Amino acid sequence: MERTIKPAQRLHGVLKVPGDKSISHRALALGVLAKGKHVIEGLSPVEDVQRTAQCMRRLGCFVETMPDGRVLVFSHHLEPEVVLHAGNSGTTARLLAALSAGLGVTCTVDGDESLRKRPMDRVAEPLSAMGATITLSPGGTLPMSIHGGRLTGIRYALPVPSAQVKSALLMAGLLASGETTVVERVPTRDHTEILLRAMGVNVKCEGGAVTVRGGSRVTGTRVAVPGDFSSAAYFLAAAVCLRDSEVYLPVTGVNPTRTGLVDTLREMGAEIAFENGEDPGGEPVADVYARSSSLKGVTVDDPARIAFTIDELPILAVAATQADGTTRVRGAAALRVKETNRIAAMARNLTSMGADMQALPDGFVVRGPTRLKGARVSSFGDHRIAMATTVAALLADGETVLGDDDVVAVSYPHFFVDLTALVS
Ligand code: S3P
Repeated sequence: MERTIKPAQRLHGVLKVPGDKSISHRALALGVLAKGKHVIEGLSPVEDVQRTAQCMRRLGCFVETMPDGRVLVFSHHLEPEVVLHAGNSGTTARLLAALSAGLGVTCTVDGDESLRKRPMDRVAEPLSAMGATITLSPGGTLPMSIHGGRLTGIRYALPVPSAQVKSALLMAGLLASGETTVVERVPTRDHTEILLRAMGVNVKCEGGAVTVRGGSRVTGTRVAVPGDFSSAAYFLAAAVCLRDSEVYLPVTGVNPTRTGLVDTLREMGAEIAFENGEDPGGEPVADVYARSSSLKGVTVDDPARIAFTIDELPILAVAATQADGTTRVRGAAALRVKETNRIAAMARNLTSMGADMQALPDGFVVRGPTRLKGARVSSFGDHRIAMATTVAALLADGETVLGDDDVVAVSYPHFFVDLTALVS
């Protein structure tokens, strides 16, 4: 549907964002391997995570929501042949492809129009090297058919930074013979490593190499999912950019492999604080506070910083339009193969709102500050483009009309309701 967004005077209040999507996918998927009781508290209710739950049920797992909202996962009988529909979710497709391969399942993995354009060879190639028989559609995309079987552990250097591929290979490695080592030249989010340790698996991390041993016992555990930093990011950025604003986001995940945006916004001059930090189960959690700040442009080109900000680069582009000077983002070509080409999409939307944004093959340059103006913009079928552009619309003079706003359901179904409660 189309949504008209009015400019905001300020953003003010307290908001608990939904559970972390990345951790939720992993908590569910590892339930397939768990021995004993595996319970998830605060599981993200979003469409992408529901896809993982649905695919697991297809595989023959039980994923049951109890009356108190906790989700129980267990598996004792797996279907030998299934079709798994991952919808819009790359994490679902890649993790479940790996688990199916290791479990000896024969399956077809498919997705929606956007997911069918995204690269799957990055996971198919190493899984084939481990012994699975995998056929991809021309161009290395979905649908993909997998003939699982006896896998053998490998040592694999990731050609492109990808936490999804790392996680998929670690999961397959637990079902393979011998050791599986994934070597990362650039570090990526480490939720899988943290969760596996909480489930009793010996995960060795040495100089960018992560190793698991096949056949390790994976013990069911209680996972408490913190708020999703990637969802919090829109409110943080809006509070920093709007006048007279402050926002408090309790119990939000602040794993440093996810919070590159905070590091960059702080370098730009933003006042953001993490309070009451703790790390139950190994995942750092804090109450995150942000307030109106004056920003200056910066250069973001450190590969690790880019990886730790990968889903927040669209909202960083919006904040950069309000910063004094030039913001440059380089080394982020991965943005071109997300749910849409996020570099092109943000350049199109922000330029039509009057920003000075130049798309680069591997990033962008924004010159600010600019007083944005309302315009007719598109979500490009991508939840993060919809939410980042909505924040731009709050900062603009005049109304903005956003097409296809319901796409936010992929990661944040109540985004507009929560935003409306904070805006005045
Ligand atoms: C994710 C990893 C990242 C990220 C995605 C979620 C994950 O993708 O963009 O939204 O949960 O592992 P890549 O692995 O493709 O970098």
